[in-house]
Amino acid sequence: MPSHPRTIPVLLSSLFCLSAAVGLAQQAGGKSAQAVGAPASAEASKYVGSDTCKTCHEEIYTAWAKTPHWKMTYMKEGAGVAHSGCESCHGPGADHVAGGGDKSKIYIFKDHSREETSARCLTCHGEKQMQSHFAESSHASSAVGCLDCHSPHHAEEKQHLLVQSQPQLCYGCHTSAKADFAKPYHHRVNEGLVQCNDCHNPHGTGTVRQLNTLASGDAVCYKCHADKQGPFVYEHVPVKTEGCSSCHTPHGSTNPRLLKVSLVNMLCLQCHTFPGLSPAGPVHNQSAKYQACTMCHSQIHGSNFSDVFFK
Ligand code: HEC
Ligand code: HEC
Ligand code: HEC
Ligand code: HEC
Ligand code: HEC
Ligand code: HEC
Ligand code: HEC
Ligand code: HEC
Ligand code: HEC
Ligand code: HEC
Repeated sequence: MPSHPRTIPVLLSSLFCLSAAVGLAQQAGGKSAQAVGAPASAEASKYVGSDTCKTCHEEIYTAWAKTPHWKMTYMKEGAGVAHSGCESCHGPGADHVAGGGDKSKIYIFKDHSREETSARCLTCHGEKQMQSHFAESSHASSAVGCLDCHSPHHAEEKQHLLVQSQPQLCYGCHTSAKADFAKPYHHRVNEGLVQCNDCHNPHGTGTVRQLNTLASGDAVCYKCHADKQGPFVYEHVPVKTEGCSSCHTPHGSTNPRLLKVSLVNMLCLQCHTFPGLSPAGPVHNQSAKYQACTMCHSQIHGSNFSDVFFK
């Protein structure tokens, strides 16, 4: 459910709808917004309702009525929603209509910065939802806004009103991710089996790289690779301390098993250098027999039976 803007003044409940509208108009700060403190009734009379918009914008109205935002027409609570669909985003339309479609009297999204338009969307989508970390996301801080990915009227991908379907939407800006997923060993994102947002939240998260974490706070990888989670009697320390990406590249790799280096022994020897130091270098020599480390140390993610991760 959309949440109320923080600026809603506390009024009698009977005036709730009006106050919500004022709140949205104030937050939006658009040209069409009423002066702060305008009487609620005067403000309310600036709303004409979606049916009026339909008389001149029929094509837009008809397409819009098939999107989830159509629900706003029926909603009685929430920021602006009680004032019908169109105007909960575009602001009150009376002056625009009186002016025969005066464009200076209506909120036009493309005339405003990404930061402003995102703030407008967030009046309803800001809290307790997937978008609650948007303000601190690297998308927001790089001036990427809602409308780079969503379009209320011209969505190419109807589900979630996306301007383009995934992963192409993301590849448009993230060319190195695109290159990674084209490598011979990769999570099958291009094949549709895994999605970017299985691991990331494009709206930002509380963690680095906009990565999702499980409710338990553990790495996103356990969502699908639960067998690697343990707890094990004998943990392989880096799995828990440094995480999966200390050995794997999560997107794609030219190495089997998405490993960071091509030879398993080279991976192990990055940390296991000399016997006697910690982590201990292998006691055995590096003759060919011992090079395929995981032939013997097969439970490399942890074991309940062997402190050197044998079967
Ligand atoms: C969820 C917010 C939202 C709602 C509700 C909404 N609009 Fe829009 N409107 C936008 C945004 C954002 C744009 C900029 C174009 C885009 O991204 O789709 C826009 C653009 C427009 C345009 C410019 C022309 C165009 O095709 O882009 C018109 C006209 C318009 N809206 C009218 C309406 C009418 C009429 C309604 C009600 C039927 C409505 N809008 C409901 C957000 C909204
Ligand atoms: C009397 C007819 C009429 C009504 C009713 C009307 N509009 Fe418009 N609207 C127009 C005209 C004409 C334009 C200007 C079109 C142009 O110049 O391209 C316009 C432009 C707009 C634009 C800007 C489009 C752009 O170029 O980006 C938006 C947004 C918009 N209207 C929204 C609404 C909303 C929301 C309502 C209902 C509150 C509404 N209109 C009701 C006639 C109307
Ligand atoms: C970088 C691209 C991107 C940006 C920026 C973005 N979104 Fe999204 N959004 C997505 C994708 C992708 C999905 C689909 C997620 C899924 O399938 O789980 C989505 C889903 C949603 C949903 C439906 C899922 C839900 O939470 O109920 C809403 C609502 C939404 N976005 C709102 C917003 C708003 C508001 C903004 C701006 C503050 C925004 N988005 C910015 C890409 C983006
Ligand atoms: C006045 C409140 C309000 C505003 C402002 C608003 N939305 Fe929404 N939005 C809603 C409601 C209500 C729904 C339907 C939620 C549902 O289906 O449960 C919705 C649904 C969505 C969805 C989900 C579609 C899906 O398929 O799941 C997306 C994406 C979205 N809005 C994006 C935006 C963007 C982008 C903006 C700014 C241009 C915006 N919204 C502005 C109230 C709002
Ligand atoms: C309009 C361009 C654009 C689109 C579309 C876009 N991004 Fe981004 N994204 C950026 C920019 C710019 C940054 C910040 C700079 C950087 O780290 O690359 C960023 C940052 C990120 C980060 C954080 C990187 C870090 O180092 O912290 C992730 C993860 C991400 N985007 C994932 C996605 C996903 C998933 C999608 C598709 C749903 C997507 N992006 C769509 C432009 C975009
Ligand atoms: C299997 C999980 C997973 C999937 C699927 C995934 N990512 Fe990532 N992504 C990660 C992890 C983990 C990191 C952090 C890597 C690190 O910090 O070493 C990351 C890092 C990033 C970064 C930061 C820069 C970089 O390359 O390290 C961007 C941008 C990004 N991902 C975008 C995307 C996009 C776009 C998609 C979909 C096309 C996607 N990711 C799919 C797990 C995933
Ligand atoms: C949405 C589910 C999902 C998530 C989340 C996920 N994976 Fe995977 N992963 C898979 C699937 C499915 C495969 C099977 C390989 C295939 O055929 O595509 C796989 C395969 C792998 C492989 C083995 C590839 C091979 O060649 O056998 C590694 C390594 C891996 N994932 C690591 C990770 C890491 C690290 C993360 C967290 C950054 C992660 N996965 C997150 C679904 C997921
Ligand atoms: C210390 C290095 C290291 C760490 C850390 C690590 N892995 Fe691995 N992983 C490997 C090696 C080496 C292989 C290849 C094993 C083989 O070839 O038999 C592998 C193989 C895999 C495979 C494919 C084979 C299988 O066992 O299913 C998956 C999936 C996988 N790892 C997921 C993960 C996940 C998820 C994490 C984080 C929880 C993780 N790995 C952390 C070294 C590591
Ligand atoms: C990122 C660093 C890192 C990598 C890569 C790594 N390890 Fe470890 N490994 C450790 C640490 C740290 C310990 C715990 C050492 C301790 O407790 O003194 C450990 C413990 C072990 C142990 C248990 C015996 C002991 O010394 O405690 C074995 C066996 C082992 N690793 C094998 C491997 C193999 C085989 C590989 C390659 C597939 C590998 N490790 C890759 C860091 C790493
Ligand atoms: C042919 C089987 C085999 C192969 C291949 C193998 N090991 Fe071992 N590894 C062993 C045995 C046996 C031990 C001793 C176990 C014990 O003490 O119980 C051992 C012990 C270890 C230890 C623990 C050392 C200590 O001081 O406790 C480490 C670390 C280790 N191996 C790393 C590696 C690395 C790295 C590779 C690949 C370069 C590798 N092993 C390849 C069989 C193997």
